[in-house]
Amino acid sequence: MTETGLQPERLDLDPAPIAPERDLMSKFDGLIAERRALIDTGVTDPFAIVMDEVRSPTVAVIGGRETILLGTYNYMGMTFDPDVLAAGHEALARFGSGTNGSRMLNGTFRDHMEAEEALREFYGTTGAIVFSTGYMANLGMISTLAAKGEYVILDADSHASIYDGCAQGNAEIVRFRHNSVEDLDKRLGRLPREPGKLVVLEGVYSMLGDVAPLKEMVAVAKRHGAMVLSDEAHSMGFYGPNGRGVYEAQGCDVDFVIGTFSKSVGTVGGFCVSNHPKFEAIRLACRPYIFTASLPPSVVATAAASIRKLRYAHNKRQHLWENARKLHAGLKQFGFQLGTDAPDSAIIAIILEDQEQAVAMWQTLLHGGVYVNMARPPATPAGTYLLRCSLCAEHTTEQLDRVLALFAKAGRTVGAIG
Ligand SMILES: Cc1ncc(COP(=O)(O)O)c(C=O)c1O
Repeated sequence: MTETGLQPERLDLDPAPIAPERDLMSKFDGLIAERRALIDTGVTDPFAIVMDEVRSPTVAVIGGRETILLGTYNYMGMTFDPDVLAAGHEALARFGSGTNGSRMLNGTFRDHMEAEEALREFYGTTGAIVFSTGYMANLGMISTLAAKGEYVILDADSHASIYDGCAQGNAEIVRFRHNSVEDLDKRLGRLPREPGKLVVLEGVYSMLGDVAPLKEMVAVAKRHGAMVLSDEAHSMGFYGPNGRGVYEAQGCDVDFVIGTFSKSVGTVGGFCVSNHPKFEAIRLACRPYIFTASLPPSVVATAAASIRKLRYAHNKRQHLWENARKLHAGLKQFGFQLGTDAPDSAIIAIILEDQEQAVAMWQTLLHGGVYVNMARPPATPAGTYLLRCSLCAEHTTEQLDRVLALFAKAGRTVGAIG
């Protein structure tokens, strides 16, 4: 008998131990060794942090120490908003902890409809579809929109969920150089005219915090007869007069906007909004929408409440931009090499020499009471090692002064600045 209680012979299993060459897990040996080497240097593992307690959108307890959160994408600080929490509590009490089903079957509750209504109001669109995560929104929309014989044209530095959406679908994939309008134009020009084409862009690229020239790119895409999908995960809430994203700030019209609830909205979930008259058909064909359980009622209730408040959060937007300018200017003045010349977004990336320097700096900051994100290849562009800061509208001037003082000290300790 095996542990499952099944007879090996009845399953036609080879009872002999697995020969090493047949162990499918052996492909991870390199990764395991790399991680072990990192941990053996005695540093805290940057990819295994636990938040013991979260006290506010900007403060948590990590390893017993009160820590300023500067790497959470909680841009608008909505996670502790009293109206958002009240909506979540009410939905939890009224509808229970989960839906037990797909949106297509028993998994659409009052607050899924509320969240979609809140999105239509926020974006001024006729259509909105909520997915279980932003990852699944990209996976679903890209793989469903572009079929066999059609084309997806994407920026080389696209988020993993965009690449995975391409891999899940059957369309031909064409990449263009990061943020290059010229290369996009050239690659579109080489494609046959007839087949359908989807150009996938991001408003803000999360690794370096740089912004896409969406206006020019959308114009190029339209000239070649392509539809455009813009992922505005890192811009929702604080770009454009209504906080819709970079596409709104640059005054361009896109066919589909992808977003997430896991950043400015402050919970979990993903969505796509569109004015396309046939948009609802996506619900009938999109596998990552159909074949998974829907979000818990309390989650969609918090999302709806948060989105409705974000629409009018003009003071928060303003303060978030002030914070981004202050941190960018301070770090630049110290002599750090930054991902962007100007504070173009709420992400500020510090480029470091190698893994050793990045981990040492990250650890010094953490011990000093500041948490930032560490990023390394293959997630980063051009094999860079990065510490990424994301600002929150709730960061205070005092917190940022402390952060800057710590950065100066840590940067000198590890030799990142003179
Ligand atoms: C550009 C972009 N798109 C999509 C996602 C996925 O969002 P979610 O966390 O909701 O799955 C992310 C998350 O980091 C992202 O950065």
